[in-house]
Amino acid sequence: MKIIKNISEVKKICSDKKIALIPTMGAIHKGHESLIHKAQEKASFNIVSIFVNPIQFANNDEYINYPNNINSDIEKLKNLKVDAIFIPEIREIYPLGFSTNVDVGQISKVLEGKFRPAHFTGVATIITKLFSIIKPDHAYFGQKDAQQCLVIKKLNDELNLGVKIFINPTVRDQNGIAISSRNKNLNKIHLKAAESLFKSLCLSKQLFEKGIDNTKYIKDEMKKVIMQSYPTKIDYISIANSNTLEELDKIALPTLISLAVWFGETRLIDNILLK
Ligand code: PAF
Repeated sequence: MKIIKNISEVKKICSDKKIALIPTMGAIHKGHESLIHKAQEKASFNIVSIFVNPIQFANNDEYINYPNNINSDIEKLKNLKVDAIFIPEIREIYPLGFSTNVDVGQISKVLEGKFRPAHFTGVATIITKLFSIIKPDHAYFGQKDAQQCLVIKKLNDELNLGVKIFINPTVRDQNGIAISSRNKNLNKIHLKAAESLFKSLCLSKQLFEKGIDNTKYIKDEMKKVIMQSYPTKIDYISIANSNTLEELDKIALPTLISLAVWFGETRLIDNILLK
């Protein structure tokens, strides 16, 4: 497995190959593993980028506390038989004076964008840079970050970057909790309570399948499931068109049902797609 740190080197290595890129911020977990397996099915040269992107965090504390264990990540990626990893330093990606931002507009201003205003500009900027540097044929992302997937697809289309984007289903633990690097920060009580997120999403699907399409009613029922398991702060429960993210009064397919909920200091997001 090649470990590459410089833009010039990664450009050289990737220039004559069919490339599958799996962008990450490290803290490699089962969700990333499923993306890597999917990429490897295509038999292209697979490269995992590890870059904790400072400009996509809500604040400096969140950035500094982001889990960081590069040696264990490298070991895991070696075992997964990844072809190469790209681990640039901050100044390699954002040299002093860097000032360009990629803003994909309205779709990035709702839901997560409302609570974390600079987040998607940060994501869109780093993904545009990675796609420009590596020029992958394919790139892999997880459905858990549904809005991120939409933002990335939109910038890829609108800037004609030509990358084929693959979205993998959310990987869950045995209790239905979506795998995320943030789960490490949950204590036992929060971990148990967090099971209510997927339960509430499954309930929304069941209600819809029973013929209920009133989104206010469905959201109220979902809220009850979460609050009965653990009284907490819910940033949002959204039932929206899965392409435009416009909120719906009545479910009309395709619909994205998504939520963001706090457990102690940890904010979790999750979603399901009704097609
Ligand atoms: O999902 C993530 O880990 C990050 O947002 C991404 C896509 C690697 C961009 O920094």
